[in-house]
Amino acid sequence: MRTLTNISAVPYSTFRFNAQLATVTEFGSVAELENFHSDTTPVVLGEGSNTIFMQDLIAPVCRFVADSKTVTQLDPQHVLVHVEAGHNWHQLVSWAVEQQLWGIENLALIPGSVGAAPVQNIGAYGVELADSCLYVDFYHWQQRKVLRIAAGRCEFGYRDSVFKHTLAGKGIIVAVGLCLSKQPAPVLGYKGLDHLSADAAINTIFEQIIAVRSSKLPAPAVLANCGSFFKNPVIAMQQYTALKAKHAAIPGFIQTDNTVKVPAAWLIEQQGFKGKCYGDIGCYKLQPLVVVNHGAGTPAQLEQLVTAVQQQVQAAYGIQLEAEVRMLNAEGQPIR
Ligand code: EPU
Repeated sequence: MRTLTNISAVPYSTFRFNAQLATVTEFGSVAELENFHSDTTPVVLGEGSNTIFMQDLIAPVCRFVADSKTVTQLDPQHVLVHVEAGHNWHQLVSWAVEQQLWGIENLALIPGSVGAAPVQNIGAYGVELADSCLYVDFYHWQQRKVLRIAAGRCEFGYRDSVFKHTLAGKGIIVAVGLCLSKQPAPVLGYKGLDHLSADAAINTIFEQIIAVRSSKLPAPAVLANCGSFFKNPVIAMQQYTALKAKHAAIPGFIQTDNTVKVPAAWLIEQQGFKGKCYGDIGCYKLQPLVVVNHGAGTPAQLEQLVTAVQQQVQAAYGIQLEAEVRMLNAEGQPIR
């Protein structure tokens, strides 16, 4: 266990606001967690690719950094990969592709750690973590032990899970169990993959995902960002039909429960925000759903942009955009 005090938040958030963090404690094992005590609820952080520090943080930051993985045969076609939370997500995907293990190849290049993946049920190109997750190991601060939470009890939804609700602030994810398949199982329905042949090799899909993502999403190391800033709103079919009558071009993707997912990028672009900046904070020029920090951006500029986007989209379409990124105040509470 190591604790750093009064340090800059810049290396701890890919949005790179220059806040101060009171303490950052890194844990290398569950035994170290058992020796940890805090009077205030810690902020659990992975690699900071979905977290923005809007103020200097007085709440303690905790990170579980152990990153081993073990592979167990489940049946002739499937393996269980038990991965500790500190493992980098993309490195895990790259390894799985090398091993010809199917299930997470569409989730290539998603920034962040394995431990963060279940929290928002990371998803891209027709696949989400929930599709291969068997369980999540969660160290409970009060119970002082690891609870194994079966996937069926993780309440996975679109960018959602029990870790954002009942278990929010209650503990820290220490490992994730994934079921991967030796049998090819390509998911090629998403735009950008639909030209690949039905028997495409896993490496081909992996490389195509990397190419598509790189063509429209800025690499956080090059241009500070936290990926999609807002969730894509899901609205009732009736509301969508009414909107379609007024705005014929509005795209919508019908969900299995007959609701409609509307691309937030379209709503934001229509309101003139593509490439628009408030100081150094702006909507990315190639994909307006991604909010970027061109270098010297401030929390006040970000607040201005987010408020303007939400107000204009609400006024034009009656849709409330919800932030997907976690914006934290001094106590570590989300501000929106
Ligand atoms: N669109 C526009 N203008 C643009 C770009 C997109 O109008 O400049 C509209 C189009 O209608 C397009 C639709 O948005 O068809 C969807 O765009 P895209 O496929 O790029 O997906 P997205 O909704 O912007 C979501 C996820 C991404 C994920 C991609 C691919 C959310 C909040 N975001 O983005 O996840 O990589 O799909 O599956 O669901 C993230 O969560 O950080 C993230 C990057």
